[in-house]
Amino acid sequence: MPPETGQVLLVGAGPGAADLLTVRALRAIEGAGALLYDALVGEEIVALAPPGCLRIQAGKRAGRASMGQQTINRLMLRLARRGLTVVRLKGGDPSIFGRSGEEAAFLRRHGIEAQVVPGVTAACAAAAQFGFPLTHRGEARRLVLATVRTGDGEVTGGGWPALADPEATVALYMGRDCAGEAARRLIAEGRAPSTPAIAVENASRPQARLLSSRLDRLGAAVAHAGFTGPVLLVIGEAAARAAVGDARRTDGHPDRLERASA
Ligand SMILES: C[S@@+](CC[C@H](N)C(=O)[O-])C[C@H]1O[C@@H](n2cnc3c(N)ncnc32)[C@H](O)[C@@H]1O
Repeated sequence: MPPETGQVLLVGAGPGAADLLTVRALRAIEGAGALLYDALVGEEIVALAPPGCLRIQAGKRAGRASMGQQTINRLMLRLARRGLTVVRLKGGDPSIFGRSGEEAAFLRRHGIEAQVVPGVTAACAAAAQFGFPLTHRGEARRLVLATVRTGDGEVTGGGWPALADPEATVALYMGRDCAGEAARRLIAEGRAPSTPAIAVENASRPQARLLSSRLDRLGAAVAHAGFTGPVLLVIGEAAARAAVGDARRTDGHPDRLERASA
């Protein structure tokens, strides 16, 4: 008799720290027959899978070879058809730049309903760790989660006016290597050059770093910082409240790069 079809769970692993997993995500990982995990998911979280669980690194770090999306899709399908509970584990929240829509649609076309388990996205983790709000009464009435990269990795030509609203906090994902270009485009659309702008590397992890700057200096400051981990850019008045410990950034302060306090 062919095995009963298994199921696929698209699970958010959160930004890195294992204690930011949701209880539902933890239960999913502990019940996995196969775990397909992205490069941003740390070993501590992968280690929560049960003995005997098939663990497969499915890649996706900028600039490094990774498993193609088609291969990942087919692999999930094959494993589910073997009757396994497949956990597709992604950094942050699967529905935010996590391709959960594409993967769920592929599985549905092949007769498998995927369930999504949400996770803490990088913007929330960065805000919590460095003590700034993403919205703030009277200053930041909107939060825009955006990427300025197209599917091919190029900087997008359109959509910039939507990010230029002075009352919006803009959280830019995958923006490390195009911070200067993004800042230039935002200023050209009318965002003030003095707008507070920060970069957070490795949010929620012990090695997290905060770079405090302003929009017109962001590109140079990020390039100078030599970041190697995942970096989130946050632009807007609310970002002025970001700080390590008691330190507070003041307007006109030189760019500052600090490590998270323990
Ligand atoms: C493909 S997107 C995935 C986003 C993820 N689904 C989320 O909700 O956070 C990868 C980008 O997310 C951001 N990112 C993910 N984890 C991060 C972290 N711990 N610290 C800073 N940025 C992070 C970076 O901008 C990185 O380039």
